[in-house]
Amino acid sequence: MKIFLTTRDLQHHLNKLNIFPVGFVPTMGALHTGHISLVRKAISECPVTVVSIFVNPTQFNDKKDLERYPRTPEKDIELLKNFLRENDALFMPTENEIYPENLIPEKWDFGNLDKVMEGIYRPGHFNGVAQVVNRLFNIVKPDIAYFGQKDFQQLTIIKELVRQMGSNVKIISCPTVREPDGLAMSSRNLLLEPELRKNAGIIYTTITRAASMFNNFNIPEIKDFLRNSINSTPGFQIEYFEIVDDTELMPVNDKIELRPGKKYFGCIAVWAGNVRLIDNTEFSCSVSKG
Ligand code: PAF
Repeated sequence: MKIFLTTRDLQHHLNKLNIFPVGFVPTMGALHTGHISLVRKAISECPVTVVSIFVNPTQFNDKKDLERYPRTPEKDIELLKNFLRENDALFMPTENEIYPENLIPEKWDFGNLDKVMEGIYRPGHFNGVAQVVNRLFNIVKPDIAYFGQKDFQQLTIIKELVRQMGSNVKIISCPTVREPDGLAMSSRNLLLEPELRKNAGIIYTTITRAASMFNNFNIPEIKDFLRNSINSTPGFQIEYFEIVDDTELMPVNDKIELRPGKKYFGCIAVWAGNVRLIDNTEFSCSVSKG
């Protein structure tokens, strides 16, 4: 694999190769098996794949969160060497490369999509994600980009970003990869205290259990169940749980609001000590009313 630190060198490499489709896996590093599943998929579909590692400051609404975000560049490089082929590229830009002084920061309007769930608790987060993804797409010019379903709201917003940009980049969503106890793989898991890590499987166990209750219980009862089982685990606290459709992300508070033909996902954010974890799973209900 080739490693590039500048846009110029990366673009020179891709232009010289001139092969398509170009696959792209944007990441913030601290790579784990979830990222590798995206890389594997990209490699299986694209003759050239670019992976980027850039911890994007504009998507952190909390400065402390940015400072302590895990960074393991040497390990990441060693790991990627096992998968990326000779002409595949790892792009590790500096902040100045992504946000040069003359770049005018964009403001995106995503309507409801960034006003719910993460949007409420992490103001400005999705504008920062959109900024960096737009910038990276302009640099890499991928044909296909791969994102994990764990970041369900991010994925929906990126699809909308691509629509607003009139871009032809095909967005592929890839299944969440989980630890044996069900915990969704995330770079942030590295920050968990051992005792909290031991119990963190509770998040997935509880949302899958809640999903199985969807046919027979109403939504407030399901929310109570989630709140009680997560908040009674020492060190764990729910920040939000919402059931939303997968295109407009409208929270559903009563089953009467369910619309036929739509898919619904239960999305959760949980504090495990001072680490914030998110997860989601599909909620399907056979009694939806139109
Ligand atoms: O999902 C992530 O790791 C980041 O939000 C992304 C898409 C790489 C943008 O910084």
